[in-house]
Amino acid sequence: MKNKIVIGDARNMRELEGESIQLVVTSPPYFNVKNYGKVDGNIGSINNYFEYLRAVERVFEECFRVLEPGRFACVNISDIISGGRKFPIPAHYVYLLERMGFDYRDDIIWKKPSGVGAGVCAGGAAKRFGVFIQHPYPMYYFPNNIYEHVLIFRKGKFDYKSVSDARKHRDKIDIETAKRYWNCDIWELVPEIKNQYTADTHPAMFPEKLPENLIRLFTYRGETVLDPFLGSGTTMKAAWGLGRRSVGYEINEAYLPLIKRKVGFSNKFFEVKKRGGFEWKNLAK
Ligand SMILES: C[S@@+](CC[C@H](N)C(=O)[O-])C[C@H]1O[C@@H](n2cnc3c(N)ncnc32)[C@H](O)[C@@H]1O
Repeated sequence: MKNKIVIGDARNMRELEGESIQLVVTSPPYFNVKNYGKVDGNIGSINNYFEYLRAVERVFEECFRVLEPGRFACVNISDIISGGRKFPIPAHYVYLLERMGFDYRDDIIWKKPSGVGAGVCAGGAAKRFGVFIQHPYPMYYFPNNIYEHVLIFRKGKFDYKSVSDARKHRDKIDIETAKRYWNCDIWELVPEIKNQYTADTHPAMFPEKLPENLIRLFTYRGETVLDPFLGSGTTMKAAWGLGRRSVGYEINEAYLPLIKRKVGFSNKFFEVKKRGGFEWKNLAK
């Protein structure tokens, strides 16, 4: 099977058979705080919070359908502050995904180093302390976002006996790497620089190390990783680099050149299906 890029709405992943995917790694649109392009069906443009959650729920229902039993879905998301209100998006995701049948397994914190992006001494935190400096009194503590979540879900129990000793041996994880990076559920990763790609760029890429870690931890070589919100193609790039196959959905066709460049697109190993935008209304449900 070739790696597949589908330009279309991930609320309907009809290209994928049930239980055909071994891992989901993704970073959904963070409610309506970023501009992912004015495209029909872009979940990031929905400005009613509960409608946004319903739309995301549809995508994860599809993820649940296509995921093999026992396998994992890893979701990078954070709280959002918008219009003076803090939206507990990760908490609501846990509720929605558990309700549809996923087991909630872990919450890895992606900590951004101080001084980078939303680090402790930068960005929003500076705003919080700006308020404190002006009003150093009780009741002037304001909400903030200085880290993100990587929520880990599993679809039922994994059958460990289904993997041969030879496969286990081939993809064995180096214990020193595990100690260094995965001993603790706080991962310090430098955020991706937005305009690393000049001609066309993406406003919300995650660092490649994030999907890379998850792919190493939750798949064997030759298995297939799905990213229903492909963006610039980071998950696909990481999967390809680690000898895994991948499928990615992205609603905004404008990101296709960026995805192709990032993954090193070739017709031999990748294919693109352009399906068009909004598909929600066509769903039977
Ligand atoms: C946070 S970004 C993902 C960024 C990605 N992790 C990366 O590293 O480049 C979310 C992406 O979801 C896309 N998106 C929004 N609604 C969608 C939908 N209904 N189906 C598929 N993709 C959608 C947006 O266009 C945006 O590129």
